[in-house]
Amino acid sequence: MKITVVGGGNVGATAAQLLANQELASEIILVDIVDGIPQGKSLDMYQSMPILGSDSKIFGTNSYELTKDSDIVIITAGLARKPGMTREDLLAKNAEIVGSCAKSAYEYSPNAFFIIVSNPLDVMTYLALKVTGLPKNKVIGMAGILDTARYRAFLSMELGVSMQDIQALVLGGHGDTMVPLKRYTTVAGIPITDLIEPARLDEIIARTAAGGAEIVGYLKTGSAYYAPASAAVQMVESIVRDQKRVLPCSVLLEGEYGINDTVVGVPVVLGKNCLEKVIELKLDAEETAMLKKSSDFVRKNIVECMEMVGLK
Ligand code: 2OP
Repeated sequence: MKITVVGGGNVGATAAQLLANQELASEIILVDIVDGIPQGKSLDMYQSMPILGSDSKIFGTNSYELTKDSDIVIITAGLARKPGMTREDLLAKNAEIVGSCAKSAYEYSPNAFFIIVSNPLDVMTYLALKVTGLPKNKVIGMAGILDTARYRAFLSMELGVSMQDIQALVLGGHGDTMVPLKRYTTVAGIPITDLIEPARLDEIIARTAAGGAEIVGYLKTGSAYYAPASAAVQMVESIVRDQKRVLPCSVLLEGEYGINDTVVGVPVVLGKNCLEKVIELKLDAEETAMLKKSSDFVRKNIVECMEMVGLK
């Protein structure tokens, strides 16, 4: 297994380190345009492997030759938010960066699966699909796992119970319109509505939806990276080990949930063929309306992005 991580910033480097720790690839290539950064970070990580007991080899580079024949490419390149910015404020700049990174990576690894992490996430995943021309099972975005993890962490803090016993599902675009589903949130099988008052649950849901901005507010110079990188690595693990995990991921929908030609987060099965199945839930009227609002918002940004880069 050979995995390329494009973008040597906090998300990319953390993802590379986690991949190596878990020995999910024998070779990991970290690519970044800044001379020295991917080389230095990779050598540092390589030197941590004897301590961590992993035989993964990590190399840093400023060009794509070394990435040749990767099995998986994770794209984290692009600008991160600063306080006060929405993910959509990054669209123009990151479309340029993600478009060119996806194209270059695809040239060297036409058979790879692509996992997109750059923001605005759903739009960048759509862009990567178009730029590479790959089928929809091979280009997927990381967001739902992150949003769900935030929700689960907040619920665990609230209830004082293990995160492992909290199951939850967040659908929709990765942004303010995301759709945490109360009906599908349980603690060891107990409906969350039996454990938390409705008004308090709404507060936790609102905190989840603004979870990225909360971190940006603290960091000031960038956005979250430990949880985003962990989420991307969980997707890789399910693919590499053919686990068939059911995880919320951003994928191109063509009719599922009544949504067309739009990338949004839905529960999917990830296995050795990357996206193996989209799971369609029977949503109630309120959930359907929330998901439609979210996908309409993403769709509007997709159209804007495609016009910007001159693609259809
Ligand atoms: C987040 O939600 C960066 O979008 C990412 O933290």
